[in-house]
Amino acid sequence: MTDKHLNIDHVSMVFDTPSGPFTALENVDLVMSEGEYVSLIGHSGCGKSTVLNIVAGLLQASTGGVVLDGTEVDEPGPERAVVFQHHSLLPWLTAYENVELAVKQVFKGKKSKAEMHDWIEHNLKLVHMEHAMDKLPGEISGGMKQRVGIARALAMQPKVLLMDEPFGALDALTRAHMQDSLMEIHAELGNTVIMITHDVDEAVLLSDRIVMMTNGPAATIGEILDIRLERPRDRVALADSPEYNHYRASVLKFLYERQRRPGSDDSKPVDEHGSDDKALKIVSSNSAAA
Ligand SMILES: Nc1ncnc2c1ncn2[C@@H]1O[C@H](COP(=O)(O)OP(=O)(O)O)[C@@H](O)[C@H]1O
Ligand SMILES: [Mg+2]
Repeated sequence: MTDKHLNIDHVSMVFDTPSGPFTALENVDLVMSEGEYVSLIGHSGCGKSTVLNIVAGLLQASTGGVVLDGTEVDEPGPERAVVFQHHSLLPWLTAYENVELAVKQVFKGKKSKAEMHDWIEHNLKLVHMEHAMDKLPGEISGGMKQRVGIARALAMQPKVLLMDEPFGALDALTRAHMQDSLMEIHAELGNTVIMITHDVDEAVLLSDRIVMMTNGPAATIGEILDIRLERPRDRVALADSPEYNHYRASVLKFLYERQRRPGSDDSKPVDEHGSDDKALKIVSSNSAAA
């Protein structure tokens, strides 16, 4: 474990807009250790994707920056793999070929053809997709496509896995399966993870820390919650756990009392930004067993 594995160092982000500069983020500061699983949670439009895109190197911070293992991030790189809410597979390539494309980019000249083949299969097996490797994206379900997207990201052997609402478009049951797979994979590989989610239960179940962001403009980190639940975590057992329910209540309080949207009705958080983000999910306390 390195102390300052990933350092999001006093990041601010000002966008130029037709009506003048817009300060989306102000002084976002977070240090993560290797293998840590952090969730970013906050109302729609607060700046979560902007933070993730800066770590991915897809956006440049206006001030401050991101340092990974001592090297400043200024462009995208294979050591920081990204999984988006909607799968981004190439439709004319099979599941296998989609993963192969990423593997060839990263391991060309480092792995032999046979080694690459084994590595592609290994990663598809990790996400339980070995039975559908030769299917095209159009022939598999949304959950399966998301699995292939995760396999592709993992196959790049990234130090950091960045996920922007990876399960946001999935039904509750598929989502629960994906969360369980992800916990297994994280236990096995120990990647550092930043995951954006709208789902309070998902955040508590998966995270070592939940970073709660204030509302924008000039959004920043409001509170950080340490989730000290033993791993491996079992969703059914945790549904009755007082600690689990305490954590989940803390996040809900932050979101709906301290960061309540101005003029919003608590039961229906609104997305004013017209993005495809879903409103934050408030679910009943036993839904962890979904
Ligand atoms: N390229 C951009 N130009 C101008 N404003 C932007 C741009 N990208 C994001 N924003 C604004 O920055 C804020 C944060 O956006 P975003 O990071 O997408 O929020 P979240 O992911 O939390 O929903 C929003 O107000 C959004 O409208
Ligand atoms: Mg977003």
